[in-house]
Amino acid sequence: MTDEYKVALTFEGADRIDIACRADEDIITAALRQGHLLLSDCREGSCATCRGFLVDGDYDQLLPHSPHALTDAEEEDGIVLACRLRPSSDLVLDFDYPVDRVGRYEDGTRNGQIVAVDRVSDTVARITARTNAAQDAFQWEPGQYLQVTLPAVGATRAYSMANAPDGTRALEFLVKLLPDGRFSGHLAAGKALGEPVRLRGPYGQFVFRGDPRPVFVAGGTGLAPVLAILRSLAATAPATEARLVFGVARESELFADDELESLRQKLPHLEVVVTVECPTESWFGAYGLVTDHLGPIDPSRTYYLCGPPAMIAAAEQLLLAAGVPRERVHTERFLETGDQQP
Ligand code: FES
Repeated sequence: MTDEYKVALTFEGADRIDIACRADEDIITAALRQGHLLLSDCREGSCATCRGFLVDGDYDQLLPHSPHALTDAEEEDGIVLACRLRPSSDLVLDFDYPVDRVGRYEDGTRNGQIVAVDRVSDTVARITARTNAAQDAFQWEPGQYLQVTLPAVGATRAYSMANAPDGTRALEFLVKLLPDGRFSGHLAAGKALGEPVRLRGPYGQFVFRGDPRPVFVAGGTGLAPVLAILRSLAATAPATEARLVFGVARESELFADDELESLRQKLPHLEVVVTVECPTESWFGAYGLVTDHLGPIDPSRTYYLCGPPAMIAAAEQLLLAAGVPRERVHTERFLETGDQQP
């Protein structure tokens, strides 16, 4: 039988949650199993969202993780990644945020069907899934994501919803088409339409914090959660003075023209910059990296960055160096990844 340990999770102000954690599961997974959604995004050791301080107890070795999320020196100082830590004794783990940021997790798994697949650029497909009629619509916040499983190919991926929650059963995702992708290859081959899909979640904390002048920076399919947030703002706060910088590598990778035009109509103070990193001679729009188009950096605005890790790292560095407080920079890293386990 697998050993199980007592783990005390402590938070700002000495609040505490006690969970049990098996020796073969990480802290985030164990907490979820017991209904607590700790701050976490990637759950594979790359985003650093789940960092905590090990006050007491032991583990053998953290699961593989990026040095950008945790360096060896930080680990020697007692900092750990909760998504990478499997205990080998009882533990006390401290997090530097208040307990009210711990979400309540209900195991939301729904079955549904792929009802539309549209190729929207050379490298991106938009898929629409709908949960089965007998089940409730998902409740989620714009910016969150689901784990999407295609049983036909036995593959699970994490995708952010691009539509805003409106009580319907429709869920729209933007999928980067990878040449050898098991999941995306199946979509690109036109086989997924009408197939069953399993959806689990919602997950993630890349959600709008209510700022009057937000700046969104999106690379490629990182536009999906930003579209969801902007669509929701169009319905609830059309006077928002938002700025969006959306970048792709080549013109053939551009998509969402119609959606962005429609958002411009509904959000009259929305400023949109679409930039192409390596344009052809026939491109007359903005060019270069998204970081070339952040505009005058204003530390009083809140920045939402979503896209490839390198893009986020570069933008984050510029923003922090220009004096934007860390709590005003929210990130969601999109990995070109293999299967993800919820
Ligand atoms: Fe743990 Fe991303 S590093 S959730």
